[in-house]
Amino acid sequence: MNQVTPSRADLDAIAGLCDENWDHYYTRAKLRSDPVYSAVMREIADTTAPLLDIGCGIGLLSHYLHACGHRVPVTGFDYDERKIASAQAMAAKAGRPGLTFTSGDARRGLPEFSGHVVILDILQFFTEAEQDQLLTEAAARVACGGKLIIRSGLQDDSWRFRLTVMGDHLARLTFWMKAGPTRYPDAEQFRRVLSAAGLQVRIEPMWGGTPFNNYLIVGSRAA
Ligand SMILES: C[S@@+](CC[C@H](N)C(=O)[O-])C[C@H]1O[C@@H](n2cnc3c(N)ncnc32)[C@H](O)[C@@H]1O
Repeated sequence: MNQVTPSRADLDAIAGLCDENWDHYYTRAKLRSDPVYSAVMREIADTTAPLLDIGCGIGLLSHYLHACGHRVPVTGFDYDERKIASAQAMAAKAGRPGLTFTSGDARRGLPEFSGHVVILDILQFFTEAEQDQLLTEAAARVACGGKLIIRSGLQDDSWRFRLTVMGDHLARLTFWMKAGPTRYPDAEQFRRVLSAAGLQVRIEPMWGGTPFNNYLIVGSRAA
C-alpha cells in the first residue's frame, strides 16, 4: 500500500510548482495543515481506479496523490479558469501527463467518467436542488468498487457551523473564491440522495485541527 502522508520536502516541492507567490504560500500551508488529502488517499489507497476531482481548484489533491506514489490518472474540473490554467501549468512543470484539467460549471453537467469521484468543499456554493443534482450525477460516475468521497461543512446548531459560514464569506471577501456560500447540506440529505443512487453511505467528523464543522462523507459502490 502507498504511504498516506508525503514528506514535508515532497509537499514543499508541490508548492514549488506554483508560478504565483500567493498560490505558492497557500499551497504550502494548505498541504501541511489540511487533513483532507491524506483522508482521500486512505480511502483509495488499495485501488488503481482513475479519479475525477470536481471543484479541483489548482489541482492540489492530484499532486498529493502522486507524492504518495498513487500515480493514477486524475481529471480535475473547476469553473475558475484562472485556477485551471494554474493547475495545467503545475502538471506540465511536474511532468505528469496523467493529470488533466478542464474548466466547466458543475451545475451544467460533468465530464464522462467512471472511477472514484471526489468533491471537496464546493457544495456550499450550490442551492439544495443543485446539490442533489450534483450528488446524483457524481454518484453515476462511481465505478463498481469505487467511492464518492466528499468533504463538506454540515448544517447544524454548532458553533463550528457558524465559524464555517464566516470562513466561507471571508474567502469570498479576499477574492480567493468567486462566490460566497449559498446553502450547506445536512447529513440526512447525503444519506437520502446517495442511497437512492445505490451507494452505501458513511459520515464522520473531519475537524482535524480546525474549528470548522467539516465532515467526510463516503459513498461506496459494491464491487
Ligand atoms: C474551497 S475550493 C476547494 C478546492 C479543491 N477542491 C481543494 O480542496 O484543494 C472550492 C472550489 O470549487 C470551485 N467551484 C465552485 N463552484 C463551482 C462550480 N459550480 N463548478 C465547478 N467548480 C466550482 C471553486 O472554483 C474552487 O476552486
